[in-house]
Amino acid sequence: MVCAYRARASRWPTPLFNDPWAAQIAGSVGEEIAQRLDARWPPMETWLALRVAYLDRLVGIAVDSLSIRQIVILGAGYDTRAARLPRAGVQYFEVDHPATQAAKREVVAKLPGYPIEAARYVACNFEVEDPIERLVANGFDKAEPALIVWEGVVMYLPEAAIRATATRLASELHPSSVVAFDLFGKRMAMQDVPDADKQSVSFVKELGEPILFGSDDILPLLYECGFRWIRSRDFNELSVELMGDYKRERFFRFQHLALAAVRTPVAGWP
Ligand SMILES: C[S@@+](CC[C@H](N)C(=O)[O-])C[C@H]1O[C@@H](n2cnc3c(N)ncnc32)[C@H](O)[C@@H]1O
Repeated sequence: MVCAYRARASRWPTPLFNDPWAAQIAGSVGEEIAQRLDARWPPMETWLALRVAYLDRLVGIAVDSLSIRQIVILGAGYDTRAARLPRAGVQYFEVDHPATQAAKREVVAKLPGYPIEAARYVACNFEVEDPIERLVANGFDKAEPALIVWEGVVMYLPEAAIRATATRLASELHPSSVVAFDLFGKRMAMQDVPDADKQSVSFVKELGEPILFGSDDILPLLYECGFRWIRSRDFNELSVELMGDYKRERFFRFQHLALAAVRTPVAGWP
């Protein structure tokens, strides 16, 4: 479904990014699921496009302004950044559940021209394995800073699991590392939302991924996990910034994006 949206967004008249593989990965199955969600929450395509585009820009800033050379895609799913945004001297690590990762690798191996070697694949079941240990076992250098892209994952995790992972990231990674993740507001997780939004919540539950976590103020949690530089962005700001417009009817009420680091990044970070 996510790939179907990335494929559509790549066809916008003024696209925010280009994903040449998304349509093939999505196939008709992905597009069909996306259409079912469209009917329940029409802004989904725009929201997803903004999320992908903003995190893509962070990859560029991390590499160009912060001299980061390790990009970790945590809970990678069908992420294609390693293929879309290759940079000389930069190593991508895709960390995911062994089953999801095997399925992804099987799909992309069949795509003509997909650079499967662009990422190092780190199979890790977060429930029983430590992602940092698994990363190190696969060549990740803890002594060097990294950008951690944790996209579309925390809303499906219990708070204890988010805290455990965030604490490990803050304590184990180089302090100049930056973690970026999107999250929903508290009322979204509690389903205390207008009917229009409730439909999208119940739809993802039907797909097998109930929303477990939401927060209107992620700063206390990230502080308690050890981060000392914390920023929150909302998707209305991102739509003004990246698309140059704001439409009341797609008002993003419950969608946020958080950035966190142990050490304040050098000037120039947004
Ligand atoms: C909704 S998908 C997001 C995928 C991708 N980051 C994106 O934005 O399209 C959630 C991801 O979390 C991963 N995940 C869920 N539970 C996990 C676990 N116990 N261990 C490792 N990964 C897990 C899934 O395999 C999946 O790739």
